Amino acid sequence: MDKMLNIALPKGRLGEKVYAIFEEAGFECPSIKENNRKLIFENNEAGVRYFWVKPSDVAIYVERGAADVGVAGKDIILEYAPDVYELCDLGMGKCRMAVAAPKGFSDDVNRTLRVATKFSKIAKDYYSSIGRDIDIIHLNGSIEIAPILGLSDVIVDIVETGTTLKENDLEVIETILPISARLIANKSSFKFKTEMIEKVAGSISRLTEGNK
Ligand code: PRP
Repeated sequence: MDKMLNIALPKGRLGEKVYAIFEEAGFECPSIKENNRKLIFENNEAGVRYFWVKPSDVAIYVERGAADVGVAGKDIILEYAPDVYELCDLGMGKCRMAVAAPKGFSDDVNRTLRVATKFSKIAKDYYSSIGRDIDIIHLNGSIEIAPILGLSDVIVDIVETGTTLKENDLEVIETILPISARLIANKSSFKFKTEMIEKVAGSISRLTEGNK
């Protein structure tokens, strides 16, 4: 069996910050900083191999065992519900999942609400929990445009600074849940590489304690 710990990191700014924490925890891989096109890096001495993957794909790599552990947003974990262990909250990449609508919007409960989103499952779960009938319009990006063009009544999306909503004359009408990055592990890797994964999770959890 592969003795290395395979770690999937979300490519981008958050991933770089996450790598810095892993480095501080003693799982450094200096070559990662030398090349920004390569996607796989390893350090045999530290026993780690890193992959840069699209943030929304981290959970798939981990669920299928291509990576033993990874860092994924709670939004992705809830949306795709991968069969993985969630080991700790890094308190990084904080934002919230919210319902937003054009300013002055008022909901007519006698009509089906049209909801545009990238997060269909999260939106369905939320509206079913409050007993509201909806029609999901699944989009892949630029969700904010949908209510402006009359494609939907509201959107369910991630809000970080709120700038995107503001620039498009939308406002939050309901917060669904807070989001942050989580360390996740493949279930069978956790069984066979328990010591190493627990060591990683323990160090990462200690180093990010102050973020929560
Ligand atoms: C997210 C989200 C909003 C924006 C919110 O998009 O879909 O558009 O960030 O951030 P703000 O509140 O700071 O303006 P992201 O950048 O992840 O791009 P994507 O839509 O391509 O996924």
